[in-house]
Amino acid sequence: MPPLLIAFDGPAASGKGTLASVIAADYGLPFLDTGLLYRAVGHVARERDIDLEDAQALGEAARFIHPTLLEDDALRGREAGEWASRVAAIPEVRAALKQFQIDFAHQASGAVLDGRDIGTVIAPDAQVKLFVTADPETRARRRFLQLVKVNSALTFEDVLSDIRIRDERDSSRSSAPLEMARDAVLLDTTNLDIEAAIEAARSIVKARRGDV
Ligand code: CDP
Ligand code: CDP
Repeated sequence: MPPLLIAFDGPAASGKGTLASVIAADYGLPFLDTGLLYRAVGHVARERDIDLEDAQALGEAARFIHPTLLEDDALRGREAGEWASRVAAIPEVRAALKQFQIDFAHQASGAVLDGRDIGTVIAPDAQVKLFVTADPETRARRRFLQLVKVNSALTFEDVLSDIRIRDERDSSRSSAPLEMARDAVLLDTTNLDIEAAIEAARSIVKARRGDV
C-alpha cells in the first residue's frame, strides 16, 4: 500500500485542525497545519511593516518561513488570521510556500495536512480528502470561545464579521481558492459536537481506505 496521505480542507473554525490532528495521532502520521505558514508570513509582514501591495517582498519573506517560527502564540490570534488571509491571496506567497508543503505531504511515512487547498493543489493525489464545514454562526461561536480567553473585549459580532470577510476573501481569490475537491467527502459539523465530529471523521477515513 502507498503511504497514507490525508487532506483536510475547509473554512475557519470548521474543526478541520482538531479533526486532522486526531486522525494523525490515530494513524501515527506527521501532521502539518498549513494555516500556520500563512499566519507566519502575515506576522512577519506586519512586524517588518511590509506593504501588502509589495508581492515580491512578501514572496521573499515567505521563502524564509521555517517550522520553528510556527510555535509563536501570536500566530493564533485574531489579527494573525486576518493578515494570513490577506497575504494568502498573493500568488508569490503561495508559490514560496508550496514546495515545503508538497514535500511534507509526500514523505515516506505518509502525512496529514489541513488548510484550504490541500486536496486541490498540494496533494491532489491524497487517498482521503475531507472538506469540513459548518454554518458561519456556529463557526463564529466556536472561534469566539477560543479567542475571548485571551481578549475579553472581543464580541461574538466581531468574530462573525471576521469569519464572513475571510470566507469571502479565501473563496474568491484567483490563486488556489477555498473549494471542495471533486473527490472530497463533505463533513458538515454544524450539528455535531467535537466528539461526534471526530467519530464522523474516523468513519470517513476508514471507509475511504476500505477498512470499515
Ligand atoms: O484556523 P483557521 O481556519 O481560522 O485559519 P488557518 O487555517 O490558520 O488559515 C489562516 C488563513 O490562511 C486562511 O484564512 C487562508 O487565507 C490561509 N490559508 C490558505 O490560503 N491556504 C492554506 N492551505 C491554509 C491557510
Ligand atoms: O482548524 P479550524 O479553524 O477549522 O478549527 P479548529 O481549531 O479545529 O476548531 C475550532 C474550535 O471549535 C475548537 O475549539 C474545537 O474544539 C471546536 N469545535 C467544536 O466545538 N465542535 C466541532 N464539531 C468542531 C470544532
